[in-house]
Amino acid sequence: MSGSSTYVPKSGLARWFESRLPIVGLIHSSFIVFPTPRNLNYWWTFGGILTFMLVAQIVTGVVLVMHYTPETTLAFASVEHIMRDVNYGWLLRYAHANGASMFFIAVYIHMLRGLYYGSYKAPREVLWIIGVIIYLLMMATGFMGYVLPWGQMSFWGATVITSLFSAIPFVGDTITTWLWGGFAVDNPTLNRFFSLHYLLPFMIAGVVVLHIWALHVPGSNNPAGLDVKTPKDTLPFHPYFTIKDGFGLVCFLVFFSWWVFYVPNYLGHADNYIEANPMQTPAHIVPEWYYLPFYAILRSIPSKLGGVIAMFSAILVFAFLPWLDTSRVRSAAYRPVYRFFFWVFVVCALLLGYIGAQPPEGGYVLAGQLLTAYYFLHFLVILPLIGLFETPRELPASIADAVLGKHEVAATASATTH
Ligand code: HEM
Repeated sequence: MSGSSTYVPKSGLARWFESRLPIVGLIHSSFIVFPTPRNLNYWWTFGGILTFMLVAQIVTGVVLVMHYTPETTLAFASVEHIMRDVNYGWLLRYAHANGASMFFIAVYIHMLRGLYYGSYKAPREVLWIIGVIIYLLMMATGFMGYVLPWGQMSFWGATVITSLFSAIPFVGDTITTWLWGGFAVDNPTLNRFFSLHYLLPFMIAGVVVLHIWALHVPGSNNPAGLDVKTPKDTLPFHPYFTIKDGFGLVCFLVFFSWWVFYVPNYLGHADNYIEANPMQTPAHIVPEWYYLPFYAILRSIPSKLGGVIAMFSAILVFAFLPWLDTSRVRSAAYRPVYRFFFWVFVVCALLLGYIGAQPPEGGYVLAGQLLTAYYFLHFLVILPLIGLFETPRELPASIADAVLGKHEVAATASATTH
């Protein structure tokens, strides 16, 4: 993953094994001695946190499946059975359901970190696009998982989102019937969503391997956005960043536990404790919080097809960022104008999320439309223009300079040469 290995097997058995499958050397060069920029801050711990969350979701999910039944007449009851009868079933379910939210909080922080520090820029474009693919897979996985408890929001959320495909000209209805496996969301739909909800996390795990591979070719970006130039710019990954990532993870787990143990239902919807009823539409159908900004964009366009196109474009536009941002400077720390618009964009996305949770009426509709327009303006007009007109601040000569200041670097250099 990261060039030739410096690992030297100590025992004869280890040498024998390494000459046949050099996996310990691969781990050693990728996660022990890997040269890592010395100035990484805590925003760089979220990749590790995400990896942990992916594993946690798979482990809790696999055990939940041992007690869950993907059949419309039994699914809701089997979830109640997990909550009441299975030993620590409540913990498993709350950890998995809140874990999905924590996973999305972490991924949004991880993505915003990338936006702020320009991590999507050359030579990390492929790494970034792989990230966008992971994000799409996460959204599909979360959506299908929410259908499984077969509550009112499961059923009606699935109905609203799958019906979007019927907006596709000519073949839309055929596609929707094919997705449903019938003429409405029903048992075949639940079965296939269950199958895919189980499959996709393993696909995500595979794509994460590519993500880290693509990361280890150029190495990590850093808060100064500078390339590594001398060995003084880096530290070995272990112990410096294993400890830092470990501490970040522990803090994140404290936060995660608070939700699980104190407010386990806060992020869910009360209607999902009512069994799915195709004869009764809930007053407001709202998706999980992490989809809300995109839901607001969907509803802001008066035509159904237009809304669907806008919603998917709002995600896909991220893949084009490396080419939409025309600035050669990566980090917002040295780009005052970009930094300002970055925060405006964050506020815009949060407001869109708020609008997505409101009923589509009155002032909310207009506010949603204005925010949607600004969302696309940010990517398609503001970003390309700032790159052309902004005067960035003077960049430090090196990462070591940015951390230690010029004089100290000179002092360390002379101390080591004398
Ligand atoms: C399951 C989800 C994901 C996992 C497990 C994951 C994992 C990681 C890890 C371990 C790192 C290195 C540590 C770090 O820089 O934080 C990383 C870096 C990175 N990830 Fe992800 N990632 C995920 C999703 C995403 C998404 C959705 C995007 C963007 C759309 C993304 C973009 C990036 C970028 C640009 C870097 C390099 C950052 C830098 O060096 O400055 N990742 N990821």
